[in-house]
Amino acid sequence: MTPLLELRGVVAGYRGGGDVLRGVDLAVEEGSIACIVGPNGAGKSTVMRLVSGLLAPRAGQVLFAGEPIGGRPPAKIIQAGVVQVPQSQGLFPDMTVRENVLMGAYPLRRDRARVRTNYARVQEIFPIVAERAEDRSGNLSGGQRRMVEFARALMLEPRMVLLDEPSVGLDPKALQGAYESVRRMSEAGRTVLLIEQNVRFGLRLATHGIVMEGGQVRLTGPAEQVLNNPEIADLYFGGSSAHSGAG
Ligand SMILES: Nc1ncnc2c1ncn2[C@@H]1O[C@H](COP(=O)(O)OP(=O)(O)OP(=O)(O)O)[C@@H](O)[C@H]1O
Ligand SMILES: [Mg+2]
Repeated sequence: MTPLLELRGVVAGYRGGGDVLRGVDLAVEEGSIACIVGPNGAGKSTVMRLVSGLLAPRAGQVLFAGEPIGGRPPAKIIQAGVVQVPQSQGLFPDMTVRENVLMGAYPLRRDRARVRTNYARVQEIFPIVAERAEDRSGNLSGGQRRMVEFARALMLEPRMVLLDEPSVGLDPKALQGAYESVRRMSEAGRTVLLIEQNVRFGLRLATHGIVMEGGQVRLTGPAEQVLNNPEIADLYFGGSSAHSGAG
């Protein structure tokens, strides 16, 4: 079976700089939740930028549903079915939840029936969108805002959702909410590729784990196996078992 997303021998870097990705091979199967983990500077966010079209590969191939998308403009990649939930810009705090979610459907604005259908669907997946529709987004908690960000991304019915560190800045209760939200997106048929600093959170949530180091993929496999791999314990948990300590 063809993976939904495949990187083959990808080399990439930033203008005026050396190679940050030094031959990355990875595959994400349709319907899976794949999680990239790795130390700071490993190249995780660079992989995301490449997949969403913000950066072009210097060599190698980026394939989505078998089609080469490497170097295509971001708008074309969104059309192909890949939507990224941006890490930093988030929601417009002075706009309502409904307005923020509808902004996600901007490229579909001429097809009002489809926008209505998609809005109804995201409300089913994320009830908070209906419950807080007329509230200012700035009044929501961090965990609630994350759900509204996910809902906004789903307005374009993406085949694949890219999440760069969805756990960042969330307290334990909100973390649980984010966990369930990602699961719900997956159950709604979306393939998910996420990056996580919180290795336990990411690899418990994921079906598939990808460990990056120094611009290359060092290890990949079922998430549980990756989490319990002794090399990973060395890298992240000071050599202790991945099961010890708080998650
Ligand atoms: N816009 C940029 N211009 C130049 N170099 C960059 C840029 N963004 C990242 N880099 C460099 O590329 C390398 C990989 O960065 P990247 O952001 O992909 O790492 P990361 O694995 O996401 O790390 P972190 O866990 O800190 O988010 C780093 O050495 C970084 O300094
Ligand atoms: Mg990063």
